[in-house]
Amino acid sequence: MNFKKNILCIGAGYVGGPTMAMIASKCPLYKVTVVDINKDKIREWNSDNLPIYEPGLDELVKKIRDKNLFFSTETDKHIREADIIFVSVNTPTKTFGQGAGKAADLQYWEKTARQILANSTGSKIIVEKSTLPVRAAEAMDRILNTKNDNIHLEVVSNPEFLSEGTAIADLENPDRVLIGAKQTPEGISAGKEIVEIYSHWVPRERIVESNVWSSELSKLTANAFLAQRISSINSISALCEKTEADIDEVGHAIGMDSRIGPKFLKASVGFGGSCFKKDILNLVYISQSYGLTEVAEYWESVVNLNEWQERRFIQNMVSNMFNTIAGKKIALFGFAFKSNTGDTRDSPAIYIARGLAEEKAQITISDPEALANAKKDLSDMEENIIYERDPYKAAEGAHAIAVLTEWDLYRNLDYKRIMRSMVQPAFIFDGRNILDHKKLFDLGFNVFAVGKAPMKQF
Ligand SMILES: NC(=O)c1ccc[n+]([C@@H]2O[C@H](COP(=O)([O-])OP(=O)(O)OC[C@H]3O[C@@H](n4cnc5c(N)ncnc54)[C@H](O)[C@@H]3O)[C@@H](O)[C@H]2O)c1
Repeated sequence: MNFKKNILCIGAGYVGGPTMAMIASKCPLYKVTVVDINKDKIREWNSDNLPIYEPGLDELVKKIRDKNLFFSTETDKHIREADIIFVSVNTPTKTFGQGAGKAADLQYWEKTARQILANSTGSKIIVEKSTLPVRAAEAMDRILNTKNDNIHLEVVSNPEFLSEGTAIADLENPDRVLIGAKQTPEGISAGKEIVEIYSHWVPRERIVESNVWSSELSKLTANAFLAQRISSINSISALCEKTEADIDEVGHAIGMDSRIGPKFLKASVGFGGSCFKKDILNLVYISQSYGLTEVAEYWESVVNLNEWQERRFIQNMVSNMFNTIAGKKIALFGFAFKSNTGDTRDSPAIYIARGLAEEKAQITISDPEALANAKKDLSDMEENIIYERDPYKAAEGAHAIAVLTEWDLYRNLDYKRIMRSMVQPAFIFDGRNILDHKKLFDLGFNVFAVGKAPMKQF
């Protein structure tokens, strides 16, 4: 079949895979190829067991794979063939040198840019899909256009706003798609080509065009605002615990104010995931590098509050379990950073498992999708941890349960049965406020929820 355009995506991760699957399914005349340096990942994308779990992803990929969606490791070849290249490689926080602990590590992005340059025999549009610091496109532009030939590689910013766990629904029906292009004839024309792709299914009024720098900064700012709301409600949750106000009642009351809105007002053990912390620290670093100390400190406090909330959760567990959890079995319900994903990157559960292990608790971790990743995250603690998919078995003989991920599964368990199988007095720490606390208390549990008065049997 003769395709209208060849699209390539470099990076077959949580963003590259689902995003390209959606583009391929909505644009049957475009050939979409996704490449990655990780051969195992590509093998999995081509198999029955995709490398990531996302509701609806399996069906979507299997419908179009090998029709106009392809997964490959032959990056150089596909760069040569591509008209449009999305770059969706990871941009983690730098762990070394200047900016360590805050700045984005751009080594994967830069390597990709150089590889694109080395293999390009014609002009192309290069799309920043990865989240990058403001003005990263400028640096990329310099690298990509160092050859003195007639090839022009135009950089366009198109940050991704999907949320893991609802990625397919978000991609199918996005609040907005943002496309940042340079305000030059080449930039404007490249921007239009990207608009054309999304116009296949996204209403035109939801496709927002801006300059490149606004687009880059909007992505960092969106994540910073979302995380800030979580830290804000979590800060109030601590006050609720001291005053017997109820965080769900407070969240409901303030969320009815149309200026505030009801979303992202649920108190919890803290936010996780590969993006919020990394992107805020990136914003902090950029602000610092422009001498904007107050701006940097303001955003850094969002991350600090989150870390404090995680620590507070552990301290609460220890102090309420008679100041010692040494030798006590504790079942963690959930390890993924949120429900409906197997992703555990920066999950609060990692920090909490480590904190409880330091107190010498015996930990059993249960999660429907994230156990493989949990094992990798805690690989240095193998002998101290048991992994058990079945929550009933995980809770057997435990002194306490800590709910760390808001999986629906945990709402509807037979807690009477669980209670009977636990050591008495039995404790439950609901780090996501998803359980029926009154019912659990009536069954005999000591119940501790975030931002609520404790319900103790003694
Ligand atoms: N995960 C999310 O929910 C999300 C949402 C929006 C934006 N983002 C941003 O999107 C980007 C990608 O995130 P992700 O979660 O998909 O990361 P990921 O780690 O899941 O995937 C990145 C992939 O890029 C591959 N890669 C790295 N260097 C490569 C190279 N030179 N050639 C080919 N492949 C290469 C890696 O092997 C990996 O498979 C990040 O900048 C992230 O901040 C992520």
